[in-house]
Amino acid sequence: MTRQNSLFDDLSAPQLPDGFILRADALDLDRQRALLAAIRTIEAAAPLAKLRTKGGGLTSAAMTNCGEAGWWSDAKGYRYERANPMTGRPWPAMPEVFRRTVAGVMAASPWPGFDPDACLINFYSPEARMGLHQDRDEADFSHPIMTVCLGDDADFQIGGAERSEKYFNVRVHSGDVMLMGGASRMRFHGVRKIFPGTSPLDVKGRYSLTFRKAL
Ligand code: CO
Repeated sequence: MTRQNSLFDDLSAPQLPDGFILRADALDLDRQRALLAAIRTIEAAAPLAKLRTKGGGLTSAAMTNCGEAGWWSDAKGYRYERANPMTGRPWPAMPEVFRRTVAGVMAASPWPGFDPDACLINFYSPEARMGLHQDRDEADFSHPIMTVCLGDDADFQIGGAERSEKYFNVRVHSGDVMLMGGASRMRFHGVRKIFPGTSPLDVKGRYSLTFRKAL
């Protein structure tokens, strides 16, 4: 059963909080495949890696970046870096298909001028997850964050402004897009579970592309 499908329908369910927008099936399979091919090219220049956290552990998801800056974590903490600390080279440029995808989605959003300078690419193997956190390393929180889901389904957690607040799960699928801006920009969020074997793409696991205006 295919769900209703349009880049330009706002399919956010009534229970979703203000500023959190879920565009289910926003991206068709051809677009998803084109994004995946671009990810493979980025990975060849800036390999996926699990990053060291302040607490001394490793992130569960493996990460890389493209754009003018990349999100990074090590013993010194969380920040954006203009060059990849692993290679010393600038991050790969944001691919044209990434830019087109952002522009197409955001044109019909409350943030039509959103112009990201960074894309954090997370890869979740079937057992990976991400604990509740806020995205707070960007310079200006008036800009939203746009997330593209590729590969396996996942339960995405949406909490409140405090870590202790109750959260709920939204099941996201390959081709879905989420926007977190305005009153939801600083909500805690995370990835509770990946559902292996649900990917319509040639990937075992889940990618998220998270577009940010970082600098
Ligand atoms: Co986040």
